[in-house]
Amino acid sequence: RRVVVLVSGAGSNLAALLAAHDDAAYGARVVGVVSDRAAAGGLDIARAAGIPTAVVAPRDFEDRTGWDRGLADTVAIFRPDLVVSAGFMRILGAGFLARFPARVLNTHPALLPAFPGAHGVRDALAHGVKVTGCTLHVVDAGVDTGPIVAQVAVAVGEDDDEPALHERIKVAERELLVEWVGRIARGGLTVEGRRVVVG
Ligand code: GRF
Repeated sequence: RRVVVLVSGAGSNLAALLAAHDDAAYGARVVGVVSDRAAAGGLDIARAAGIPTAVVAPRDFEDRTGWDRGLADTVAIFRPDLVVSAGFMRILGAGFLARFPARVLNTHPALLPAFPGAHGVRDALAHGVKVTGCTLHVVDAGVDTGPIVAQVAVAVGEDDDEPALHERIKVAERELLVEWVGRIARGGLTVEGRRVVVG
């Protein structure tokens, strides 16, 4: 199965997927990496692995709808079976999602529906939770609101600050992403309301 990964940051989730896809039995191959920003470290990781990359920057479009369409057109070039948003910091619009129905996944560093949005780790820490974690979900038109595929709990340490907690979450997140992208690639994914069936 062909996978396109959307990145905005360091790309550690992407790196984990690339390590897994070298095994032919994994079932998924990353065929393209697309970012909203040319400076994303994930693009360097993709280039080093010989994976085609593209940048679709909002400032190159007259409005969000134009950018959303441009992003979908670029992603479509790679003919993806699955689109994985891993550390992609933009909201995918209804137009984009309509192009790849029930085939867009996102990882979020909190146990949704708790702490959605761009600061899930900071918000969980500020709230004083003892357990947080990460969530892999199917993307719908809301922000981190789509049907949940899988979750992993991560304990919050007494002395945790945001970077320390986020790094610990990212370890779990990478494992969750690699496990489930492989299972979905090998068995398929169907969404029935809020229920997700894999395989
Ligand atoms: C990940 O924790 C992702 O869930 C969050 O930002 C982080 C990006 O990490 N949105 P990376 O770019 O994959 O290293």
